[in-house]
Amino acid sequence: MDKDGLRMLVNILQQNKDVPAEVWRTLVSHSGVEERENLASMAREGAVERFGNGMYVRALIEIGSYCRNNCNYCGLRCSNRQAQRYRLAKEEILECCRRAAVLGFNTFVLQGGEDPGQSDEWLADVVAAIRAEFPTKAITLSVGERSLETYSMLRHAGANRYLLRHETADDEHYSFLHPHTMSASNRRMCVLDIKAAGFQTGTGMMIGSPGQTVEHLVQDLLFLDKVKPHMIGIGPFIPAAGTPFANEPHGSVDDTLLLISLLRLRFPKALIPATTALETLCDDGIQRAVLAGANVVMPNLTPYEMRCRYTIYDNKINSGCNSEQGLVALSTKLEEIGYHIDFSRGDY
Ligand code: 5AD
Ligand code: SF4
Repeated sequence: MDKDGLRMLVNILQQNKDVPAEVWRTLVSHSGVEERENLASMAREGAVERFGNGMYVRALIEIGSYCRNNCNYCGLRCSNRQAQRYRLAKEEILECCRRAAVLGFNTFVLQGGEDPGQSDEWLADVVAAIRAEFPTKAITLSVGERSLETYSMLRHAGANRYLLRHETADDEHYSFLHPHTMSASNRRMCVLDIKAAGFQTGTGMMIGSPGQTVEHLVQDLLFLDKVKPHMIGIGPFIPAAGTPFANEPHGSVDDTLLLISLLRLRFPKALIPATTALETLCDDGIQRAVLAGANVVMPNLTPYEMRCRYTIYDNKINSGCNSEQGLVALSTKLEEIGYHIDFSRGDY
């Protein structure tokens, strides 16, 4: 592809109209090193124009590692006997929020498996307690598939945002990655329900998950075009011990960065995190994601002893920002590339 050809395709992404599958296909499958660099710099320029050189930070609190599901890729799947399980109590979660608030965070992200031990009502109670203590903070939930009624209840309790990756938009690929008790259509319905309940909605997929093809990624991009999410989380697949995919190769860092750039160009306002999975695969993962168009980082504020047990994949980075020191380290990383931490809420 020459530079003009690439520019023409990028123009199509930026028209804010549905992008034809063929355009996505070409961009995903025909971008070599040079094209990727050009896409990253165009994406980065767009992000800087809109967000400046600030990176939004969200305090990630992993509230529990129990899960009733059995996703084939995830270390927390219920049949993984090697997984270490824990549940944070309401007061422990509130403590995390307080620590995060002292450090300057304005968004708390509560993430966990689908744990019947942390029921819908319990969650709503926790959200209400956080909301009462922190009236101006954003509360984000990432706690899986629930009913529309539950999503509405959690929204009314005071949560503002909800993350639920669709994982893959292809029905057959979805079945390959999940047990038969889960379905792609239900997953997509949940994402739409979350939006209908009034949440700023996040979705996304793994890059390089077992069996994933270019056509699957094209379908993912078409799905995102349809949903128009406020937040898009993508990260490389990383094998997890004790799962059926334990010996599969991990997803490509470069492909993840390419997808970040394409998504930034298509969704200029979206909140796109530099994910922990990317950071796990390379030391400068956060920096490279920022330079490819990401605008969010989610430092981990889970209590350290628990954090080691939240192993959705192997070698997950456990450094976090539990202290002033951790934040300084992140800040230094960002400064090295001309960026800084932006503590504001960063709503869509
Ligand atoms: N590698 C990378 N990402 C994973 N996730 C779950 N397991 C893995 C893995 N092995 C992602 C899923 C899920 C998110 C919380 O973590 O996309 O939605
Ligand atoms: Fe549970 Fe989520 Fe892991 Fe699936 S990906 S097993 S739903 S924690």
